[in-house]
Amino acid sequence: MAVETRIIGPELIAEAVALLKQGECVAFPTETVYGLGANALDAEAVAKIFTAKGRPADNPLIVHIYSIDQIAGLIGDCHPAAKTLMERFWPGPLSLVLPKSGRVPGIVSAGLDTVAIRMPDHDLALEILRRADLPVAAPSANLSGSPSPTRAEHVWEDLKGRIPLIVDGGPTGWGVESTVLDCTCLPFRILRPGGVTVEQLRRFAEIAIDPSVFQNGVSERPRSPGMKYRHYAPRAEVVLVLGDRVPEKINQLACSPEYAGRKLGVLAVSEHLRAYPGLTVFDLGPKQEPKTAAARLYNLLRAVDQHGLDIVFVEGFTEKEIGLTLMNRLRKAAGDRVIQS
Ligand code: TXA
Ligand code: MG
Repeated sequence: MAVETRIIGPELIAEAVALLKQGECVAFPTETVYGLGANALDAEAVAKIFTAKGRPADNPLIVHIYSIDQIAGLIGDCHPAAKTLMERFWPGPLSLVLPKSGRVPGIVSAGLDTVAIRMPDHDLALEILRRADLPVAAPSANLSGSPSPTRAEHVWEDLKGRIPLIVDGGPTGWGVESTVLDCTCLPFRILRPGGVTVEQLRRFAEIAIDPSVFQNGVSERPRSPGMKYRHYAPRAEVVLVLGDRVPEKINQLACSPEYAGRKLGVLAVSEHLRAYPGLTVFDLGPKQEPKTAAARLYNLLRAVDQHGLDIVFVEGFTEKEIGLTLMNRLRKAAGDRVIQS
């Protein structure tokens, strides 16, 4: 059944707080992407998130908190190094997978015995969480499978008629989702790279990277169910091109019979904006700034669809620091379509 969706500014967050307390779901900004939140302790409220997003029931949610004191009721015993990471990186784009307490309904963790928790580094999000005084389960506020929303308009495009309220706090900062770190195994394991980098985490704990971060469909321990789904993808086909001769390769592909008659575009670094005559080119920012590219990526993937493109070639980045996060999202969007130049 369609509901009326309203978009409000930060001055009206009392309405968001009231809806959360009544067991409704509400979209709000965080420093990474917009989230679709509901009371994490209310299974019926959380079920509304899955319905609104069309999210598979086996994909668990991240619980958002405003104070470390809230964590006691949500988790069992955790490793001391996980506590160090909370102190060092919260509030911030780091979700820690920890042993779940019986208080958290099974729907939140999709039946797993663990729960992912994070404290967002965003004033509006923290204010909503503080005033609701609830742990809030919140996945990204997009339709399942489409790119995460970095602006309130993206949430509106995907979820209008499906949720009652969107709090508009302007564009989000990071533009990509939080790092998900499994702290229930040793060494701790990156399930999804994000704003907090592997290099930063390694100063405080031994960290492994799950192979699924680099390659689709593989995981030694299939622990982050969400990563198996097609993700971050626009309607257009994404083709990721790697190597030292990327513009030459993309121009060559664009002329090949395989792509004849298709509407083609490129997500290119600023240095290559003029390297693709005849193609629609979008600017990812300077080659040495993967952070800028990550912040622009989801907005550009949505723009690709608005331009009605069939295929978008994307230039690859070096896989370190935020470049690892960016490339992970590009690999997910591209599926198997990764070409070496
Ligand atoms: O930045 C973010 O993390 C955003 C904002 C709104 O906080 N949220 C977000 O949520 O990206 P979502 O649901 O789109 O992605 C959560 C990811 C999924 O890949 C899910 O499988 C994984 O975290 N996850 C959640 N709980 C887990 C658990 N207990 N064990 C392993 N992976 C888990
Ligand atoms: Mg998501």
